[in-house]
Amino acid sequence: MSPAGHLSVGGCDLVELAAEFGTPLVIYDEGLLRANITAYRNAFAAEPGETEVVYASKAYWGRALLRLIEAEGLSIDVASGGELYVAVEAGFPPERIYMHGNNKDAGELTEMLDVGVGTVILDSHEEIGLLSRLASERGMRQRVLVRVTPGVRGDTHEYISTGQVDSKFGFPLADGQAATAIAAAREAPGLEFIGLHAHIGSQLLDLSRLASAAAVMADLAAEVGGEDIAVMNMGGGLGVAYTREHIVPPIAEYAATIVGAVRREWERVGLPAPRVLVEPGRSIVGRAGLHLYTVGAVKRIPDVRTYVSVDGGMSDLLRPMLYGAEYEVIVANRAAENGGEEVRVVGKHCESGDVLAASVKLPQPIAGDLLALPASGAYGISMASNYNGQLRPPVVFVDGGEARLVARREHYSELVAREL
Ligand SMILES: Cc1ncc(COP(=O)(O)O)c(C=O)c1O
Repeated sequence: MSPAGHLSVGGCDLVELAAEFGTPLVIYDEGLLRANITAYRNAFAAEPGETEVVYASKAYWGRALLRLIEAEGLSIDVASGGELYVAVEAGFPPERIYMHGNNKDAGELTEMLDVGVGTVILDSHEEIGLLSRLASERGMRQRVLVRVTPGVRGDTHEYISTGQVDSKFGFPLADGQAATAIAAAREAPGLEFIGLHAHIGSQLLDLSRLASAAAVMADLAAEVGGEDIAVMNMGGGLGVAYTREHIVPPIAEYAATIVGAVRREWERVGLPAPRVLVEPGRSIVGRAGLHLYTVGAVKRIPDVRTYVSVDGGMSDLLRPMLYGAEYEVIVANRAAENGGEEVRVVGKHCESGDVLAASVKLPQPIAGDLLALPASGAYGISMASNYNGQLRPPVVFVDGGEARLVARREHYSELVAREL
């Protein structure tokens, strides 16, 4: 908190940032981003055997962040041609890029081969054939992992649980499809099969499911005679404390659980330990980011509810609407005041479901107050849209009392720029 009683981040007073850059505004604490990246790097480096931390850039793929990630020595994954474009444009070394996607098209696979992406995670039978043909035509051998749905469900919301059999991602174990895909990837010309991938889901707070997934993957490795499995990528998913109720295991415990489980399970089935990869997204950027809004209308309906409308909403922070995600809300210009009135914080879009916080206690909010939603750095601005012609907000990195604008606010002219 600043001496004026305002909320501050990275040594910057949020009231001053709002005056300088306007609202809605997305703010990242650069020191915390660096600390999270370093915590991951150190935690995995401290574990036995080879490990690699791959940042899942879908969580937030701004160039300034990708440059930090690159400088700190992490790899990244991308999930589309667009994310790949941004990464390459940010100067990220292609050999440290992993390419995901349950429906990569020929254009995306061609772009990826052209830039020399290090590893592709195969997700469908169609993709094995297509990538094999495209790589062979170029006389290339593309390193690939096979993504498996291990039949283990993450302890999380249905929309972000991906490890169960009923999933659009990866090859199911259940009916032998995963083993068939591994055989196909081994034989396909132009492909070099190097290992397996499994991501059971996101916002995981219970690490035991990851250990179960490692056991299932080791059984598969044994079944397919996996001496050539050099890599086991366990996906991302470590949770974030979005609210005070969320208790998150420390990164070091997550690293020890995953690496320990993979090594133990591989030993159990008599195979040499693979290099262990993880793909964290939200746990690197989530708590480092914050959305800042200005209150406009406050509608009090006696004995029913109070609606507090802000100048953004579902177009810059979709997660509450998408899957009921919860955030804390702080009145940034009166940060020392607690509790008060129970209200619903809503956006300005023409949708009743445009809710940012369904029920929070705020100290008598009035027009002009600044509302901060901490821990909103993951899947916030990266899911932003122009719904209702809303302009995507600027992004500011703060550190040591200095603020630097890394993405400006959109202009109205950009709303018609693609129209012919
Ligand atoms: C394959 C894969 N890896 C990594 C992640 C990152 O997950 P999180 O941001 O929860 O760490 C996701 C999230 O959707 C994913 O689908």
